[in-house]
Amino acid sequence: MPKDTIIIGGAGHAGVQAAVRLRELDWPGRILMIAPDSEAPYERPPLSKDFLKPGSSDDAVPLRKAGYFEDKGIERVQGRIHQVVRDGRHVLLEDGSRHDYVKLILAPGSKARRLTVPGSDVDGIYQLKTWEDAAAVKGALGPGTRVAVIGAGYIGLEVAAAAASLGCETTILEFQDRVMSRVTSEPVSRFFERVHETKGTRLVFGAAVAEVRGDDRVREIVTSDGTVYPADVVIVGIGVVPLQELAQDCGLRAEDGIIVDRDGRTSDPDIYAAGDATRLVDEGEGINRRLESIQNAVVQGANAANHIMGAPTDKREVPWFWTVQHGVRLQTAGVRDPDDTVVVRGSEGEQFSVLYLREGRLAAIDTVGSLRDFNPGKKLIAAGVPLDPERAADPSIKLSEAARDLATRKA
Ligand code: NAI
Repeated sequence: MPKDTIIIGGAGHAGVQAAVRLRELDWPGRILMIAPDSEAPYERPPLSKDFLKPGSSDDAVPLRKAGYFEDKGIERVQGRIHQVVRDGRHVLLEDGSRHDYVKLILAPGSKARRLTVPGSDVDGIYQLKTWEDAAAVKGALGPGTRVAVIGAGYIGLEVAAAAASLGCETTILEFQDRVMSRVTSEPVSRFFERVHETKGTRLVFGAAVAEVRGDDRVREIVTSDGTVYPADVVIVGIGVVPLQELAQDCGLRAEDGIIVDRDGRTSDPDIYAAGDATRLVDEGEGINRRLESIQNAVVQGANAANHIMGAPTDKREVPWFWTVQHGVRLQTAGVRDPDDTVVVRGSEGEQFSVLYLREGRLAAIDTVGSLRDFNPGKKLIAAGVPLDPERAADPSIKLSEAARDLATRKA
């Protein structure tokens, strides 16, 4: 085997982007993308959205068109990396095969957190992470089916919306006191709660699932206060866990994510990591965070390739996220902190934005039902511009003007 191989472990958004970028930058050697998936790399976001709609295609949406990887000389190996042998610069696969690398990019992603209460193994309990999972969920939903969704995060809410629109009797059981508490503020949570309730979905907060009961199939869920919720189908969307074991086992730094810098470097100069499995630590900028998003995976995958090839890395990209529930889009830029000052821009009707100010500067923005403020907000976050909270709250004033006015008045 030639010694000029870059191995990419994982074929999700991060792994694919790393491979694509390496070829764009004319990496002259082999690129070996190793992943357990039997399908060609595919898009994840539609799986909990359009894919579940009645009449939609059962096929995954490929990340690149047919023949792309072959054309670009990106070799795909179906298999699971079992061990990284750092001093020998090779990986061992579960089937015992060995592949040498000059650089290794780990992009294994994350796995869905499992329900562990008694009865969690009965039939009829689903997670949604892969195309196979989504296909199984799709097959389980139908008019009149009683669906209990555990967790009101992105997955739970998107699947609940699909279930409700398919005519399922849908109940969401959430541990916290509002939906999407991990990612957004109370005004946005309350708005989306109303959206779901209007469609007939029941929301239960402070719900600690204690047991799943059933015989050959799930029958009901019992919460710790003894309430019983009948269910024919249970969908579990209670978060993800980064797949860091491979990195950890070979001695790389990992603490709730493989630790990487802005260039995707791990604690081994020949090993990079990208995507959901990573935690970005930048002590200079006071950043220590793990992001679960496509955009982050794509940027990190590209940055690892950039760094390997000596190309500049993209360091100022503002993270962004989106979800669509019952046709209402929530799009977020930046990463909110619970201590941020929350400014609601516009009334919480069909379209509004919520701004998150940190030390007077825009740190994050949620836009609901309209993308009008999204790009201006993203630019202001990147520029670190102070914002006048009163003017920023007024939707008749352009967001960019709220920043400009403050600068003018201060001058
Ligand atoms: P999440 O972290 O967004 O939400 C999990 C929810 O489950 C939280 O509200 C949490 O309080 C709740 N929870 C945790 N344990 C619970 C329990 N035992 N009982 C009841 N509730 C409990 O994770 P989610 O929704 O599972 O999403 C998984 C991944 O998929 C994330 O990485 C997410 O970013 C990604 N994703 C992103 C989408 C998007 O950006 N639109 C869409 C779908 C998924």
